[in-house]
Amino acid sequence: MSERVLFRGARVYDPGDGLSERALDVLVADGVVAAVGLDVQADDVRVIGATGCIVAPGFIDLHAHLREPGFEQKGTIATETLAALEGGFTTICAMPNTEPAPDSGPVVEALLKRIARDAHVRVLPIGCVTRGRAGKSLAELSELAAAGCVAFSDDGNAVADGRLMRHALELAGALGLPISEHSDDPVLDANGSMNEGRVSERLGLPGQPAAAEVAAIARDIALCETTGGRLHVAHISTARGVELVAEAKARGLAVTCEVTPSHLYLTEDAVAGPGGVPVYDTNARVNPPLRTETDRRALLAGLEAGVIDAIATDHAPHAVEDKLCEFDDAAPGISVLDTALGTLGLLIERGELRMETAFRALTAGPARAFGLEKRLPGIGTLDRGVAGDLVLLDPSARWVVDATRMKSKGKNTPLAGQELVGEVRAVMIGGSLVFERGQVHA
Ligand code: DOR
Repeated sequence: MSERVLFRGARVYDPGDGLSERALDVLVADGVVAAVGLDVQADDVRVIGATGCIVAPGFIDLHAHLREPGFEQKGTIATETLAALEGGFTTICAMPNTEPAPDSGPVVEALLKRIARDAHVRVLPIGCVTRGRAGKSLAELSELAAAGCVAFSDDGNAVADGRLMRHALELAGALGLPISEHSDDPVLDANGSMNEGRVSERLGLPGQPAAAEVAAIARDIALCETTGGRLHVAHISTARGVELVAEAKARGLAVTCEVTPSHLYLTEDAVAGPGGVPVYDTNARVNPPLRTETDRRALLAGLEAGVIDAIATDHAPHAVEDKLCEFDDAAPGISVLDTALGTLGLLIERGELRMETAFRALTAGPARAFGLEKRLPGIGTLDRGVAGDLVLLDPSARWVVDATRMKSKGKNTPLAGQELVGEVRAVMIGGSLVFERGQVHA
């Protein structure tokens, strides 16, 4: 049920205006943002004191693995969207590495029924590029688009066959949808389990060279140019990759990209751990791998410059047994939805990331990259009359990550025991207050 709520005295982030200097009031009524300003007056409202807090559009995640159907031991639509909600995300795009994989209209329709029944936030499905994600023949792209998919991806795998990728970009482009590509040359990367370099040599682990990502991005930019399609580079991780995307954008190609909080904050050193004796932390195994400090700084700079459009979580929950093994055998992936905001808050506190840059990349940036405003007008903004999706957060709250208390079923975080900065206080979706700290409303 939508209600009338007045957030009193918050600093307001609006992509058009930036972060307000002064404390403002935000009124949500009849399901929409009704007023933002100084001293807003309204009758019959619930007033929520927001001094010291920030109101922003609900965060949009272009890249989350919900695991259902098929891998419910790792996560379900219910558990992972609860983690999203409490992390401030009101819209998430679900990656298709499920079983069955959404490669035809009927599979997406069945998925949408589960979403309607169980999801705590808006979930937009991403359809497969290839049938069964097997990389051999194209999925039913037009059926997937008609069923409501917002993009196509075989994430977890690259579309290794260049001819297939070319054809996919052509078709997806004609349907007006991007391909979110897991940019990786699987032959170059074969058997690797972490970034190839100083740390992999020290630990004796097989490496994944930066060139595997760089070569894949270069190929796909060339195909994007040939076809006129739309390429979205998922979880970019290398300095050279950012340069390639910058060049492509400068040439006017329809190329966008995203970066994860993990790659903005951590480096390959997380695999070895902080002490002298390497810990081989399987929770720091992820694809693409955590890279070097030079790469991390280039990602932060690319985000600041607007080359990187979005911060996306690549939330990848895994079961305990998937990580309780030798490093080489561990499933790649990090559970991120619970910690994304706190990690970004730490980067902001350290002066490595501007708050406005982070908010842009969590709201209007992703909305534009996937063209979401065409289906959900005003999403990612606080424009008056727009559906009231917003987050109230305390940017200075400090808390320590306790994996056992994370809402995600996946406790696989390399951040356990770390102090993070910034915490969600309340979330509204479509004008309904669906979360207040400690309380989820049905
Ligand atoms: O580390 C990763 N885990 N990278 C991916 O691309 C897939 C994901 C997963 O599904 O676990």
